[in-house]
Amino acid sequence: MCGIVGYIGTQSASSILLEGLRQLEYRGYDSAGIATVWEDKIDLVRAKGKLYNLQTKLEGHDLQGTVGIGHTRWATHGKPEEHNAHPHVDMSRRVAVVQNGIVENYRELRDGLKQRGYEFVTETDTEVIPNLVAERLDEMRAGGEWVTLVSPLTEAVRRVVNDLHGAFAIAVLCADYPDEIVVARQQAPLIIGFGQGEFFCASDTPAVLPYTNAIVPLENGELATLTPLGVEIYSFAGDRLKRHPHILTTTTSVSEKQGFRHFMLKEIYEQPSVVRACLDAYLHPDWTPDSPHSPIRLPLPSTFYDQLEQVQIVACGTSWHAALVGKYLLEQLAGIPTQVHYASEFRYAPPPLTAHTLLIGVTQSGETADTLSAISMEKERRTGLSEAFAPRLLGITNRMQSTLTRLVDQAIDTHAGIEIGVAATKTFMAQLMAFYCLTLDLAYQRQTLPSDRLAEIVATLRQLPMQLEATMPQQERVVEQLAHDFAETQDFIFLGRGINFPIALEGALKLKEISYIHAEGYPAGEMKHGPIALLDAKVPVVAIAMPGHVYEKVLSNAQEAKARDALLIGVTPSADPHATELFDTILPVALVDELLSPILSVIPLQLLAYHIAARRGLDVDQPRNLAKSVTVE
Ligand code: M6R
Repeated sequence: MCGIVGYIGTQSASSILLEGLRQLEYRGYDSAGIATVWEDKIDLVRAKGKLYNLQTKLEGHDLQGTVGIGHTRWATHGKPEEHNAHPHVDMSRRVAVVQNGIVENYRELRDGLKQRGYEFVTETDTEVIPNLVAERLDEMRAGGEWVTLVSPLTEAVRRVVNDLHGAFAIAVLCADYPDEIVVARQQAPLIIGFGQGEFFCASDTPAVLPYTNAIVPLENGELATLTPLGVEIYSFAGDRLKRHPHILTTTTSVSEKQGFRHFMLKEIYEQPSVVRACLDAYLHPDWTPDSPHSPIRLPLPSTFYDQLEQVQIVACGTSWHAALVGKYLLEQLAGIPTQVHYASEFRYAPPPLTAHTLLIGVTQSGETADTLSAISMEKERRTGLSEAFAPRLLGITNRMQSTLTRLVDQAIDTHAGIEIGVAATKTFMAQLMAFYCLTLDLAYQRQTLPSDRLAEIVATLRQLPMQLEATMPQQERVVEQLAHDFAETQDFIFLGRGINFPIALEGALKLKEISYIHAEGYPAGEMKHGPIALLDAKVPVVAIAMPGHVYEKVLSNAQEAKARDALLIGVTPSADPHATELFDTILPVALVDELLSPILSVIPLQLLAYHIAARRGLDVDQPRNLAKSVTVE
């Protein structure tokens, strides 16, 4: 949610910043902009819309300078227009600021500045920051204070951030201090990259990885001064802090589409490999029921399992759907009562404290503000309590360098590789795999599954990558025809029961996100209690009917929809004559143990959303109004 980047060194800043923004565009694409300091002035280029608009503008503007900051925006305050694009400058155009986050008390700050004669030209919350920095600098100059300070700009920013409420990461440039960038972090991600005589800051590592893999992530309540000579880090209280850069071993830079029309389609097709990668990481390769250990190797200490009585999961969006599958598994296979909360609700209405409880935060980005806040709140309210109530915090994430991993006690890496498409696909699959592995481990430790059943599940898991690879081309052929038929449809219903109910929710979310078609996911048995009134011949119903203990029930629910003239699409293995007769179209999936069926059933739904959106000519990888990493609450 907004990407910020900064560069100070000896090279031309604008091209490095533009490339950095390209790596961060997944964070927002409402507008983009770059500011540099050149000949003691701020030079600024901004453009509405995607990054290529900024690039085009830069071709006609010689933006010089070896120090600069850049921004790609996901609009919160103020429409996505050029005048609201970052960087924002103060009234005298001496200070430029980029921000990722929200200044919650901006109205009060702006009113105060207005009364003191400052003028505003945007509707953003950010515009108060450069004006406050300029005001603090003027005050320091007037009081003669600045003479004694190593970096007056740092001190001015320090004073300003102490007055800001909310979650934010900022980078500040000042024409009067052309050899400095000052950055600050409060609940929004910010890393500093250490090069040879050049330094970087960014919201995420891909922006700096082409230049350096030595990074320091700033912590909440820290600010830093970047100069061509080095980096100094301070607390918001002004204390100097020591940090040693650590070396990133992963290559997280944005990859190519490799012949696929969109990243999303490429990522859908990567899912068999993702399942394989998770199995390689977490399954003991030669485990048998006679082995004296769990089939799963996870980085979890036994203290997580000791006397475990309850699991609570916090997550948002697609990660919340993965968590619902996790709940089903943890309760049905490992016998652990599990609650799944929307992270944004948990923080403000937490359930009563329970003893021996494991809190799991699920977030592919590891930066979702709602999820991080929920975990922080839980950590805080449990800290200092007796052993039984002490926090046990587990993260499930695709970004092991994220804020999440620094907040929790342990994290499970989902090994999906970087996901560019804003709609989550392969990271969802990897989250499911994490829940399967966690559950099997817990089931083994708690002895809730007979060993032959455990062995059966492990053997089935090993078959999955091949089964997925075998069915995807066939599914895609059917989906292409459906996309042709339903490209102009206005409403869709997705039905599932049991472990496939969350998959119905996920299928509906994917369709909404990228095709902008209204879709509802519903537990199939609940339809008759109200939503069935929506059905007619114009509303297609997608029913996930995987053989198992609710199979017949789902078929009956689909039959009820058919009786209301709905067009029926079945996600089902095609062998059953009852199903072939009932459904108008079958999206075929391999026949598999019902407990593992979500891994198979979700893929045709992802393909359906993808092909409908592509046929409608929409921007599949960067759907309107969305961002890959939602760092505001
Ligand atoms: O990074 P996270 O997994 O925490 O993200 C949570 C949601 O914002 C995310 O799943 C969102 O719903 C996606 N656009 C889903 O495709």
